[in-house]
Amino acid sequence: MPVTEAPAPARLLPLYGADNLPAHAALHGPPPYAAAGTLIQTLADAGLAGHGGAAFPVHRKMTAVAQAGRRGGRKPVVVGNGAEGEPASEKDKTLLRRAPHLVLDGLQLAAAAVGAGEVQLAVEEGTGLPAALQNAVNRRARAGIDLLPVRIAEVPRRFLSGESSALAERLSGRAALPRHPEPPVRERGVGRAPTLVQNVETLAHLALVARYGAQWFRSVGTGEEPGSMLCTVYLAGREPEVVEAAYGTPLRRLLLLGQGDPAQAVLVGGYHGAWIPAAHAVRLRLSVADLTPFGAAPGAGVLAALPADRCGLAETARVLRYLALQSAGQCGPCLNGLPRIAAAFAELAAPGGAGGPERIAVVRGDIARWSGLVEGRGACHHPDGTVRLVRSALTAFAGEADCHAAGYCRATDHTPLLPIPEGSRR
Ligand SMILES: Cc1cc2nc3c(=O)[nH]c(=O)nc-3n(C[C@H](O)[C@H](O)[C@H](O)COP(=O)(O)O)c2cc1C
Ligand code: SF4
Repeated sequence: MPVTEAPAPARLLPLYGADNLPAHAALHGPPPYAAAGTLIQTLADAGLAGHGGAAFPVHRKMTAVAQAGRRGGRKPVVVGNGAEGEPASEKDKTLLRRAPHLVLDGLQLAAAAVGAGEVQLAVEEGTGLPAALQNAVNRRARAGIDLLPVRIAEVPRRFLSGESSALAERLSGRAALPRHPEPPVRERGVGRAPTLVQNVETLAHLALVARYGAQWFRSVGTGEEPGSMLCTVYLAGREPEVVEAAYGTPLRRLLLLGQGDPAQAVLVGGYHGAWIPAAHAVRLRLSVADLTPFGAAPGAGVLAALPADRCGLAETARVLRYLALQSAGQCGPCLNGLPRIAAAFAELAAPGGAGGPERIAVVRGDIARWSGLVEGRGACHHPDGTVRLVRSALTAFAGEADCHAAGYCRATDHTPLLPIPEGSRR
């Protein structure tokens, strides 16, 4: 496959300081409300897909919400999803700190395009963001920029808080737990109104497409996957960094594969993502097309390079324990299955554990079987995403599992690479 170097655009993260409304206005001008009537078609032409993980086409969801509003005679609600429940992701918080007005412009433009009567922006509690964003909203109100008042809503620090139905539940005054997928949030969400939930990065791109058009958006990225995305990049021995990369950028460039400390595998897409052996990753680009054959996707942009001297099984076991604890405990297969899988994986990750090679063979079989039993059996995709990570780890670290069965681990450095929130509990 030919690998082309894609340029690193700087569309979303401006160089001026946080919440600088005059600098934002000088750079981009006011939100182009006059374009709202044709915005959905422009987004279709641009090919903008969501940045919350699933890459769903934005124009299709906006069309569905606008239609549901007209059908039911109820004005929709628009929600900016800044919950960023994924512990390894920093891109939404970084965007909200550095370019809050781009997100707030996007919220207003999306609301105008779908005929919404209410706008909310959900962010994680305890981050300082709710107060900072309230200040930004107040400043805009004084400048008369917004068409609708924006309510800043705080959500708990949990993996599932940003799942769209959990978010709609929370914003409707209930616990932030996923609910049955029918009827979908786009038809009945916050306060039972049709609700458009878009990731905050999606809204920032939307605000730029409304101003500069579809061709401008398509001037970076690939033909099938236009535009750019924010990524949180983990390299051993460094602080995680948020970078903006065009779709199609080689992973080796983002993760410095083949330079300095050799990597054995890369994690793509976060804790619901997949491990890919570095020997393959070095030839892949940041794109759905390249990553799908490995069961991976760019998702919400978490990228991590696991150095050769670490244990991928131990790293995965820590993440699985966290994910099992994050189950909302509403669906049997998820509530019972994920802790079992996590416990079995922890056994696999402990070299020379209790029963030797025979026991490890049983454990590997159990993990594979239980994974099949939980997949597709939850009200939300939490079990499916968790199983994706499990399966990719069993493949990418099969050699390490053989070593553990033989009673030893090749890792010489046991420093964790991926972050797990302290005191994680259900
Ligand atoms: C378990 C789970 C957790 C999620 N967490 C987030 C999140 O923290 N932030 C987010 O934007 N989307 C999250 N999503 C995706 C949302 O459900 C929803 O699809 C997204 O916010 C829609 O925005 P987008 O189309 O702009 O990507 C999560 C999905 C699942 C299944
Ligand atoms: S699948 Fe798991 S996380 Fe999702 S709603 Fe059911 S119990 Fe909760």
